[in-house]
Amino acid sequence: MLLIVKGPYLQRPTENSMTIMWETSDPASSRVEILLAERIHSGHQGNYKKPEVVLTSVSNDNPSTIHLLRVTGLEPGTMYFYNIFSANEHGEVQSGPYPFKTAVRRGEPFSFTVTSETGGFSGFDLSDGLTNINIFKQMQRYRPDLTLFIGDLVNDGDNYEDWEKYFFGPGGDFLISTPFYSCLGNHENNASWYYDFFDFNSPKNYYSFDYGDVHFICLDSTDFIKSEHYPASSGNMSTGNDQYDFLIHDLQASSAKWKILFFHYPPYVSGGYQVEDLRQLCPVFEQYGVDLVFNSHTIVYERSHPIREGIVDFHDGIIYIVAGGAGAMPEWLLPKREWHTSQSLAIPHFVQVVATNDHLELRAIDEEGRLFDKFTLRKDSDGNKTYF
Ligand SMILES: [Fe+2]
Repeated sequence: MLLIVKGPYLQRPTENSMTIMWETSDPASSRVEILLAERIHSGHQGNYKKPEVVLTSVSNDNPSTIHLLRVTGLEPGTMYFYNIFSANEHGEVQSGPYPFKTAVRRGEPFSFTVTSETGGFSGFDLSDGLTNINIFKQMQRYRPDLTLFIGDLVNDGDNYEDWEKYFFGPGGDFLISTPFYSCLGNHENNASWYYDFFDFNSPKNYYSFDYGDVHFICLDSTDFIKSEHYPASSGNMSTGNDQYDFLIHDLQASSAKWKILFFHYPPYVSGGYQVEDLRQLCPVFEQYGVDLVFNSHTIVYERSHPIREGIVDFHDGIIYIVAGGAGAMPEWLLPKREWHTSQSLAIPHFVQVVATNDHLELRAIDEEGRLFDKFTLRKDSDGNKTYF
């Protein structure tokens, strides 16, 4: 019998396109239908009608188990619904309809959530996976336009079962309508499953994309800090290294209002597993106007003061946020905070960010939905920053 074993889930949202992926138990064909989302305007409910009008469809008859279809020609910042279908000689399966939203245009506000370490805390078999389920449920309440994962999605990236157990299983209901990006953590092990299951921009272990007024850059810190040298760099954070050159050229080329980076190892955290060698990259971030950096690896929440040239700088510093997310253990913090620590707590959490063209609002929320940290960064049209 043919079964859907992962997804569907959404990848690589742009203003006009979306990738839809899923996995089946056996090789089968792939088809996606996109349906118009029509509102009910009578009465007080104002919700969406049951979607019935098929706008377009995309298909691929080549049998596969991991299915990837990219839908183009869509309108920016617009709700649609989708259905998926697969078939082979043993049967047919379908799923849907589920809602999704294309990326907003520049100048339009949007929100995203950030978490990580679904393979961390649960990976140690201490919570029976409940923490992951709670974090996904709480993120859903905030209905983000997209989500970032900062690595360690799984305990062992080479183990196929891990991807369902730690990530696609607990996250299924959320990922069905929320496109996401992730970076490589050390637990992914640079495994081929990371490249097979996701449709990030090439070369996938590092990449960039725009959404609204934000330019996002994902780096592969496990390539800068190889496991055999950890926590020391391999002398590769300089011109001539492909990823380093990509970072420079990509930052130079972006005219977006906000620049947000994410990578796994934290250059700043008052806990175990701080990877100070990554501070070699901070002058580049500072030179090209990076606003926020998200990390994980240390399974805590921590927000730094704005930092520039290795000191606190409230005029033009970068804020480093460790969003250790679904994993969080008190003993991973040091007994006292470091000079760079503004706020810190070792509890399971996610971060919500609202991005408008002159404000970034950040909230940290625990697995029971309680707000425990909040800050806002304002940037005027001349690029002057205010932190509050
Ligand atoms: Fe890690």
